[in-house]
Amino acid sequence: MPRAPRTPQATPTALQQPELGLATDPRRAELEALAAQIRYHEARYREGRPEIPDGAFDDLVDRYRELADALGLEPDERVDALPGSDHTEGFETVEHVVPMLSLDKIAPGPGKESMRAQLANWYARRCADAGRPSLALVVEPKVDGVSLSVLYEGGRLARAVTRGDGRRGDDVTRQVRAAAVLPERLEGVDRGLLEVRGEVYWPTASFERHNAILVARGLEPLANPRNGAAGMLKRKDPRELEGVGLAAFAYGVARARGVELPSTQWELLQWLAEHGLPVYVELAARARDADEAAAMCERWLARRGELPFEIDGLVVKIDALDVWDRLGSTGHHPHWGIAWKFPPERRATRLRAIVVQVGKSGKLTPVAELDPVALAGTTVSRASLHNFVELRRKDVRVGDTVLVEKAGEIIPQVVGVLRESRPPDAVPYEPPNRCPSCGSSLLQEEIFTFCPNPACPAQIRERLVHFASRKAMDIEGMGEALVDQLVGKLGIVSPAEIFDLDVPRLAQLDRMGERSARKLVAAIAAARDRGLARVLYALSIRHVGEAMAADLARHFGTARALLDFAARYVAGDPAAIAHVAPERGTGAIPGLARKTADSIFAELDSPPVRALLAALAERGVRLDESVVPIRAVEGVAGRTFVLTGTLPSMRREQAAARIRAAGGKVASSVSRRTDFVVAGADAGSKLETARALGIPVIDEARLLEMLGGPDDVSGAVR
Ligand code: IVH
Repeated sequence: MPRAPRTPQATPTALQQPELGLATDPRRAELEALAAQIRYHEARYREGRPEIPDGAFDDLVDRYRELADALGLEPDERVDALPGSDHTEGFETVEHVVPMLSLDKIAPGPGKESMRAQLANWYARRCADAGRPSLALVVEPKVDGVSLSVLYEGGRLARAVTRGDGRRGDDVTRQVRAAAVLPERLEGVDRGLLEVRGEVYWPTASFERHNAILVARGLEPLANPRNGAAGMLKRKDPRELEGVGLAAFAYGVARARGVELPSTQWELLQWLAEHGLPVYVELAARARDADEAAAMCERWLARRGELPFEIDGLVVKIDALDVWDRLGSTGHHPHWGIAWKFPPERRATRLRAIVVQVGKSGKLTPVAELDPVALAGTTVSRASLHNFVELRRKDVRVGDTVLVEKAGEIIPQVVGVLRESRPPDAVPYEPPNRCPSCGSSLLQEEIFTFCPNPACPAQIRERLVHFASRKAMDIEGMGEALVDQLVGKLGIVSPAEIFDLDVPRLAQLDRMGERSARKLVAAIAAARDRGLARVLYALSIRHVGEAMAADLARHFGTARALLDFAARYVAGDPAAIAHVAPERGTGAIPGLARKTADSIFAELDSPPVRALLAALAERGVRLDESVVPIRAVEGVAGRTFVLTGTLPSMRREQAAARIRAAGGKVASSVSRRTDFVVAGADAGSKLETARALGIPVIDEARLLEMLGGPDDVSGAVR
């Protein structure tokens, strides 16, 4: 369910460091605010908890692009330039020789031109740029999966890499092999090199089969086929991909050496198919111009449900490959193609009941129980109604036929009511005035309703689920079904009690043999060592998400220091308040505003949180952060560095971590306050700015020298 909205936090460095006159441009401030929102919503999306529909997110990105283009931002300074990295620990990072970009898109929406007109505009610009009166096009399905780059050497599959951040991805060769989605050998190619681009996806039927198996085992089903496929590709044990029914298709070639390729996209698709690669040749079509392509796309919209896999639109590409080179690309997308996005899928279904869920921080969310309906690849039987204000505004009633849509294609939501189908006896919904779980009187905060009782059983359950979840304490095997048993059968109420569980107690539970109980006890023991950031995130403190938890842990280092500070802050100590929430500028925790600080430190200082932290400490849970202690290195400490370009041996984040560990600061843009610019290969405008301002430019070798030698700490840096 969506969480209480948090105020997206702006990037402090960018706001702090006025940059060459741009800071005086009000568009710059809007750009930074948009960037913060985009990052925030991307993070929620990646967590599988989008808070806004896809369309609203796209609008943010569109506005951001417009401004970023107008301000002439360099590709590496843009949040939209690179897709969020999908890097997973334990996977080897591989540099893409040819970056994996995204496609620009056209989408329907209020206030926008018709899709036909948008495509016609795009087409007219491309014809003008190519200097041609017309350009033949190819229309292909846009399968909703995970993009993949696959290298064939001498006709043999050599490597498969995820998109990652577009420049570097994760090596998933073993996983792709185990999934058996691509041929090991290309037919009729035994020399040269070919880098094929394509999409791995989960066809609807095999995805639903997999989910049915998960449910039968008492596990949570996967949210949707796309995220499911992405998760599968990152399984450490490739055997888990065998037989789950993933599929792939190839749509292009990024690089070829010693292999003769056709000169049009249409022929290339046939060529790929002829050499044994999976290509949906019969679903692609050629169009003479934009009008014909638009007609094809419109026909597809009506037929999308007929396909055995999900498509979220079509891709319209210029057929002539020599024109591709001529048209080039931005840092984000090529000019030779465009995605024609479908409107989000909607279905009408009957609303059986409205139930109220109580979240981990006590927020009440009304949820619609529906007659099951197939929607964008999954069967939907529940949908969020967000809050009671929204519910009243839409006047949703039990018995109504409602329209459901997926926000971010993950969480289904009720978007409207078909009034004409309302049964005559349907009555307006009355929101509860007591918590459905514990009966407490409710509190109203803006549009949200809260149960204020921290001992509320529903909250206890949700907090325990969150505490054990992957991004919090990551206790493997402790999902919702098990937590229900811990609460219902063993009477667990506090996360601290989890650490008292032993094999005999756990073995009393359903579906829990002694072996599983032992495994669980080992997983609980391992969770003791997650460190302060994870613990803080796990505590379900309002406004303390993953990033804030990490910032607090990094800044205070230990729970003791943090709690001492919280006590001073709550007591109104002016120095403490000025430390994190100064009247002007940014405090010690970037992005922490006064109102949020008030709420966070008050909750940290509250008796229940203090008691819980003490109980965790007693049970051996580590409450400090194993960051490298700052060991001031002369020449680095107190100096500000800006990193740019690709460094030969370190990722930029690694270099930044080492600079910080030596007491230095790392800024994102060059200004007169920058002491050194560390430049690697392909450094762009930052290097030029540094030269213009006369700021010393150093290379990685010099930086390492200043830091006192090669990396001896990066492994410990989080
Ligand atoms: S061409 C520059 N063709 O859609 C990228 N992409 O942003 C060129 N996709 O994740 C991609 N079906 O993996 C192309 N027939 C198709 C596609 C397709 C799905 C994905 C692609 C990327 C996204 C576009």
